[in-house]
Amino acid sequence: MLEIYELPTPIVLVDLDKLERNVYTIANKIRSKGKILWPMFKTTKSTFIARLQEKAGAEGFLCGSVAEAETLVNKGITNTVMLAYPTVDSGELDRIANLVERDVRVIIRIDNVRLASLIDRSFHSKGLKIEYCIKVDVGYQRLGVRPENVGSFAWKLRRFSSLEFIGIVTHQGNAYSARNPLEVRHIAKRSAKLMEVTLKFLKRYSLEPEIVGAGSTPTLRFDIEEPIYTHLFPGNYVYYDRTQALVYGSAKIEDCALTVLATIISVPEHSSGNVAVINAGSRYFDKEIRGGLKGYGQLVEYPKVVVSRVSQEIALLDTSMEKVEVGEKVNIITNHSCYTNNAVNILIGHRNRRVTNIIPIDAKEDIDIEKRLLSINIFKRR
Ligand SMILES: Cc1ncc(COP(=O)(O)O)c(C=O)c1O
Repeated sequence: MLEIYELPTPIVLVDLDKLERNVYTIANKIRSKGKILWPMFKTTKSTFIARLQEKAGAEGFLCGSVAEAETLVNKGITNTVMLAYPTVDSGELDRIANLVERDVRVIIRIDNVRLASLIDRSFHSKGLKIEYCIKVDVGYQRLGVRPENVGSFAWKLRRFSSLEFIGIVTHQGNAYSARNPLEVRHIAKRSAKLMEVTLKFLKRYSLEPEIVGAGSTPTLRFDIEEPIYTHLFPGNYVYYDRTQALVYGSAKIEDCALTVLATIISVPEHSSGNVAVINAGSRYFDKEIRGGLKGYGQLVEYPKVVVSRVSQEIALLDTSMEKVEVGEKVNIITNHSCYTNNAVNILIGHRNRRVTNIIPIDAKEDIDIEKRLLSINIFKRR
């Protein structure tokens, strides 16, 4: 079997032993606490990995787009999908309705009365109903209704006869600004408390949700222990990454399953051997550095070497602590694996550095939009 170092570069690799361990460990822990796992599919957008998650015990999926949901359903991986983000696009609402008509359990998230009204109108006109959860803002300040307003908000939505209230959900995205595991723990605990407060407000209106859900990999180990949650929606846990390991304490660096294989293409004169250049650029490395980390990634083969500067097609390594040679191929654990995954259309699976398979990233919405645009004549007059 081919060794990973024989592959052309740059290329993104996934260590299947680590991936499987991450997927099964979390699925087993969640099941042992009597909770339901609906992983966030947008992390991988790969039905190969979703199948593995389903085999390990995922009972549904949270999706970042309608295209992701359709792909999971069409490939027979699940019949239960929740859409993480709102849509008011009539074409997308039609596609969601189409899934509902095919007896797929589709749950949407709502945080706004106007949004509710537009979706209700669309489903009402088709004679269909759709289940929804209210998105609660526990501090991320992106989407969501404040905990103290969720009861009255749910009450206002009662007039929309095509919408069926089934729960409350949140995403503790604010955990991504934590600087250490203690801060993550604090955010996790606070979020669970705020979801409890939300439940109390709902009770005042006699509303008992079936779903109380939350999802983020930094807070996951704490969320699993929280009795309040019925459903968990983590995504990044399949790969983890350098920030999860070194800043949030979600995993060990050895658990990180996704790497960029790159070639050292120069040790330039100006650096006296303290800098090396790789042939992988900005599309692989998230420019946002969190938790005071040094650099954008670190090498597996030389753990003291970090990616110190990134240009469009190449990046610089700080090799002041360990030396590398031109022509060597190295694996880089990036700071943010979701970003790296999103940069490519295939991953190379390997076990013990032996290549096993090619994994397509087959549920990308941009591919879907391009297909849709190509299928219509955008210049045609109505
Ligand atoms: C709404 C929502 N839920 C869940 C997740 C999963 O979080 P994580 O990637 O930290 O596991 C994300 C990720 O961005 C998200 O946007």
